[in-house]
Amino acid sequence: MIFSAGPAQQNRSVLNQLCQWIQKDPSILELSHRSDEFQNLLETCKKTLRELLDVPNEMEILFLPGGASYQFLMIPLNLLKKKAGYLITGLFSKLAYDAACAYGTCEVLYDNSDHPYDFSDFPEVITGDYDYVHMCLNNSIYGTKTPDLICDCPVIADVSSVLGIEKIDFSRYGLCYASAQKNFGLSGMSLVFVRKNLNFKGNVNPLISYQIQMECDSLVNTPPVLSIVMAYLVAFNLLQRKEMVVQENRQKAELFYEFLDSQEVFMPLVKHNRSIMNCTFKMKSIDDEQYFLKLCQKNNIIGIKGHKKTGHLRVSFSVHNTVKEVHDLIQFMDSCLHLFRTDE
Ligand SMILES: Cc1ncc(COP(=O)(O)O)c(C=O)c1O
Repeated sequence: MIFSAGPAQQNRSVLNQLCQWIQKDPSILELSHRSDEFQNLLETCKKTLRELLDVPNEMEILFLPGGASYQFLMIPLNLLKKKAGYLITGLFSKLAYDAACAYGTCEVLYDNSDHPYDFSDFPEVITGDYDYVHMCLNNSIYGTKTPDLICDCPVIADVSSVLGIEKIDFSRYGLCYASAQKNFGLSGMSLVFVRKNLNFKGNVNPLISYQIQMECDSLVNTPPVLSIVMAYLVAFNLLQRKEMVVQENRQKAELFYEFLDSQEVFMPLVKHNRSIMNCTFKMKSIDDEQYFLKLCQKNNIIGIKGHKKTGHLRVSFSVHNTVKEVHDLIQFMDSCLHLFRTDE
């Protein structure tokens, strides 16, 4: 069982279907991206994602090379004219801010780097003359969920961990972007949902221009073909059980937090604003954590070492982890409790 934050666990039957697309004769890897077959695939992929995620028609869906980190650059290059606002709620929103500073004036509107697990001073309402305000909805390293924001200028959201996990109300955002490696397959591609009437800058190189990528349907150059096939296969698979998916994702997190709150060996790091994708926790000592990680390895439980910035432990639920796997994980952790002391 894989509980990594990303690249995350995939669905085995979807992976088999991907192999079939590769093995066909001609293979999808051998077809021109201008061919009818590929154009049909692209259209069907967009239609399926639109239906699955309830993406409004006013937004275009783009498949852009590079992970979410590339969007940290594309956003200011396309949208930063006078000034932008950034909310720093974790490592990735800080990286987005750092990247944008090279291209214009960026104001930090909120920064909880000193207390990353606490949002009690979060602004909630932001007004001002910003070209855009950037935020990250789920902070995958700390395992926190950023509170909702009301804002009178276009909000740009990093939805990397959230896409496919929780319902996103796209009407609140000017642009949303997600690294495909979390829930939609292969690393190295971003899914971008961009409002067609945003106030784009002119004179941007076509490869990195949202406007020109929209006009060319993500085909300014040869696109990441296999990543698009995979995103389509995942979206199609999830669409068959659309109503269940969001419910199950919530259930998985609820079950796990309920377990964490019920004992004293594995201590949750987040009390309020808990992420439903990334659950962070610690043990009494680093030695205990290392021993527990060894036990996990022996039992084929993979990917729960915390990020190097925070240390400790982190269990991440991709959309493809099943409720049964979460039960199995809890059962395993429960069976380990007697191995660790909780008293001083
Ligand atoms: C919230 C968030 N944003 C951005 C990224 C960066 O994604 P990539 O490595 O695909 O650039 C990650 C990666 O884990 C992430 O969790």
